[in-house]
Amino acid sequence: MIRSDIKALSAYHVPDSAGMIKLDAMENPFTLREDLRRQWLDVLADVEINRYPDADMAELRGKIAAHAGVDTDQVLLGNGSDEIIQMILLSVCTGACVVPSPTFVMYDLISHWLKRPVATVPLSADFQLDADQFLQVCAREKAEVAFLACPNNPTGNLWPEATVQKIAEGFDGLLVIDEAYGPFSERSHTHLLAKNVMILRTFSKLGWAGLRLGYLIGEAEQVAHLNKVRMPYNINALTQASASFLLDHFNIFEQQAANIRAERERVMAGLSCMGGVETFPSQTNFVLLRVADADTVFEQLKQRGILIKNMNSARGLLANCLRITIGASSENDAVLTALEEILI
Ligand SMILES: Cc1ncc(COP(=O)(O)O)c(C=O)c1O
Repeated sequence: MIRSDIKALSAYHVPDSAGMIKLDAMENPFTLREDLRRQWLDVLADVEINRYPDADMAELRGKIAAHAGVDTDQVLLGNGSDEIIQMILLSVCTGACVVPSPTFVMYDLISHWLKRPVATVPLSADFQLDADQFLQVCAREKAEVAFLACPNNPTGNLWPEATVQKIAEGFDGLLVIDEAYGPFSERSHTHLLAKNVMILRTFSKLGWAGLRLGYLIGEAEQVAHLNKVRMPYNINALTQASASFLLDHFNIFEQQAANIRAERERVMAGLSCMGGVETFPSQTNFVLLRVADADTVFEQLKQRGILIKNMNSARGLLANCLRITIGASSENDAVLTALEEILI
């Protein structure tokens, strides 16, 4: 009944974080201000949950489009950007998907669910991407689609603009530039938009992870095609109402992102002073570091009530690497203090 390759998979594992300082999933640590929370609840109270949600979401797409500086018909909404990755991989012609390695796991995972071959292009030891090599692999594999997370997860770095531009101009399949960490990075890629270049974004890292809302920007004609494989009513009524309300208060989230960027620099400075820690540049809301024994450090942090992400099992370039999400100031202090104790 069930395909053997699906049987062989493990379900996406989310570790139990009850009662812990949670720095494993690149969430925004700040909760909604009390006055805003009350206004938001008033908005939610008016949502008619007996009715299906707005299917076309023209108003919400319009607000997001205005925020992104594009037209409404250039915007496609997904239940998280994960769902949009799935829509893309469902719609693009049969043919390989090319991604750097390491990168965000869902490009590879969803490709495999859909029986699409995946070719990877290894990053260098300092996590740089060779555009010529990437394009060679795309040509060799007759690739139809490629994903570039800019900045990249889990490495945290942003490849130079010239690298991304060279790939955008040299690849004739669909290139998806995933800007999940755009709010924490120094540049965006909207100027590279073309018939075969799309930009993927999410509100998850900006403080709305629980709402599940991502969006794709592309040329209107291409977006209209992708929209045909969107599940009807994929964005529920509570998320639609919440997003519309929160977009009117977007400056709060932009300020929080600025705060997180400043905290990232503080954490990075703290880590750089510690013996036995190698840090890597980050343009995201997390930092990647390498220690002598990541498994032990991870477990000892857990014993102290701090949950981060252990990347060691991926081996290769990520051997002995740990990924720490930037949290609130006190949480960052806690992880720095704990690491100082552990690494003595
Ligand atoms: C690069 C990248 N893209 C997309 C996502 C998915 O985000 P969401 O489905 O929450 O919108 C993530 C989540 O970690 C990510 O790191």
